[in-house]
Amino acid sequence: MKIAISGKGGVGKTTLAGVMARCLADRGFKVLAIDADPDSNLASAIGIDWDTMREIKPLAQMTEFIEERTGSKKGEYGSFFKLNPKVEDIPESFSVEKDGIKLVVLGNIPQGGGGCFCAENVLLKSLLSYVLIERDEHVIVDMEAGLEHLGRGTTEYIDALIVVVEPGQRSFQTARDVKRLAADLHIPHVYIVGNKVMDDKDLALIKEHLNDLPLLGYLSYNDKIMEADKRGLSPYDIDTKIKTEVNAIIDILKTVKK
Ligand SMILES: Nc1ncnc2c1ncn2[C@@H]1O[C@H](COP(=O)(O)OP(=O)(O)O)[C@@H](O)[C@H]1O
Ligand SMILES: [Mg+2]
Repeated sequence: MKIAISGKGGVGKTTLAGVMARCLADRGFKVLAIDADPDSNLASAIGIDWDTMREIKPLAQMTEFIEERTGSKKGEYGSFFKLNPKVEDIPESFSVEKDGIKLVVLGNIPQGGGGCFCAENVLLKSLLSYVLIERDEHVIVDMEAGLEHLGRGTTEYIDALIVVVEPGQRSFQTARDVKRLAADLHIPHVYIVGNKVMDDKDLALIKEHLNDLPLLGYLSYNDKIMEADKRGLSPYDIDTKIKTEVNAIIDILKTVKK
């Protein structure tokens, strides 16, 4: 399955992405996790230890490597570079691993607006295209609310764009924005996952306000998730409830997958 996770800041995208990666790996699947949020913190939600985390260098910061792969050089008339750089070795060469999960961190990509045409962007978009279209393992992309990194032509390979929402109008508004962006990009399978759900009323609120998007499942409001974050651990390692809830979401995803 190729899964992209979006939604307003703070709703729990990274939490869901990290625990989902662990649950899939636990089922014996190979998982490639891509941290595409400039505020990169997927490693800790996966439960990668501090020493390993320190080794991670976001791809966007690897200037020489990007120049080498894209052949970019600044010239009198602007920048020139290859539009199809080699990326196939990146998941193996530039990832850290934990329990069957490979994590690649993209880092902060310059946003030029209107599809910024810079070398970093070309490399990272090519990488995302490659992992979405060609890799045969499960791929989970932790994104921000914007969908800039997803190039046209790759979106049909996304089995699910999950928009995480919490019970609150601001995250609902972001979900509607994401839905619109997804429609523009022809991403067909857009779903909602509720998070920080305290009771049936919270769930009803989500359903009422986003009734045009299918709800895959939800995660309860859970102090253990907060505690895990405070301790720099994955909630997967200190809580069983979130595992049950995320596994239920994975099971539903399997039934909706075309
Ligand atoms: N179900 C939940 N219950 C309680 N706290 C949560 C829950 N889900 C996420 N959090 C907390 O909310 C904060 C934001 O979560 P995070 O996954 O980083 O969001 P995002 O990636 O969308 O910005 C973190 O401190 C996290 O521990
Ligand atoms: Mg995040």
